[in-house]
Amino acid sequence: MFLSLLIIVSLPSCLLRQAPLPVVVNTWPFKGAAAAAWSVLRSGGSVLDAVEKGCARCEEEQCDGTVGFGGSPDESGETTLDAMIMNGNTMEVGAVADLRRIKNAIGVARAVMEHTEHTMLVGESASLFAENMGFVAEDLTTDKSLNIFSQWLKGNCQPNYRKNVSPDSSKSCGPYRPEAEQEQNEGPRHVNIHSHDTIGMIALDQNGHVAAGTSTNGLNHKVPGRVGDSPIIGAGAYADSSAGAAAATGDGDIMMRFLPSYLAVELMRAGADPSAACKSAISRIKRHYSDFFGAIICANITGHYGAACNKAPGLTEFHFMVSNSESDTPVLKSVGCF
Ligand SMILES: *[C@@H]1O[C@H](CO)[C@@H](O)[C@H](O)[C@H]1NC(C)=O
Repeated sequence: MFLSLLIIVSLPSCLLRQAPLPVVVNTWPFKGAAAAAWSVLRSGGSVLDAVEKGCARCEEEQCDGTVGFGGSPDESGETTLDAMIMNGNTMEVGAVADLRRIKNAIGVARAVMEHTEHTMLVGESASLFAENMGFVAEDLTTDKSLNIFSQWLKGNCQPNYRKNVSPDSSKSCGPYRPEAEQEQNEGPRHVNIHSHDTIGMIALDQNGHVAAGTSTNGLNHKVPGRVGDSPIIGAGAYADSSAGAAAATGDGDIMMRFLPSYLAVELMRAGADPSAACKSAISRIKRHYSDFFGAIICANITGHYGAACNKAPGLTEFHFMVSNSESDTPVLKSVGCF
């Protein structure tokens, strides 16, 4: 028994099937982000730089209007940003949430990691920190986000994320008061494919160094102060160089309750195939919220990757990008939802 254990432990790692490394995987068909990350890695840069540059590219390109400035105005019309970055070698994390007036959220997250002993900064104080670190404060509102906001106001603030309030949030704008009389009802959720296309990115290099990151502007018409899954460690993303990495996207208010990225990494640590680990993480949420909108990407430390998504209105197939030396250019992949 002891002997057989010893034999298993001492199996040379070259017997493990090796996929091409380095590799970057990111959510959605965000090609510019994939290309930016890949160009860092292929020229010998670090996985942290790759993840930061990749997500930053999406912040600049305003990927799908759901990453970076000028998108997802909240109930007061303001765009606020959430981001995180994780170093799977040291388990250091930097995260920002409800960041205001600073475009490069993942850059600020990296600064939290590298210039403080903390893990997460939020709100107005995070913006002040960013300014002190040399980031430029600018208005994140654009004509586009202003237009989304004014259309929403004109339409009686529909949709919104309030429930059990008075006046009736399905008909009226606020201000709202709690309404005890109303039956406790989740009501229809108004999340759809265009309201939460967070970029999540995971990267691995030949030396077994793993990193992960996310960046998003959250949800259209969110309640001010709302923070989604993206900057929450283990929810939006997770990386551990001894097991793998994962990043999630979708209905963060629901997904963050299940720490899907952490779960997937732990399953891969226990030997699960990346696709199976991704599926299990989705299944765990599905048990409680059968039609939630969400997807997750996973990679283990030999560079094998997978993805999974929950079949829901507006999501039957999930697209993601994979960049490795096999093609030397980011490739669009897809997985059918289950
Ligand atoms: C990663 O996943 C692949 C595919 O399932 C598997 O062959 C490989 O052994 C896994 N690597 C590790 C380190 O578990």
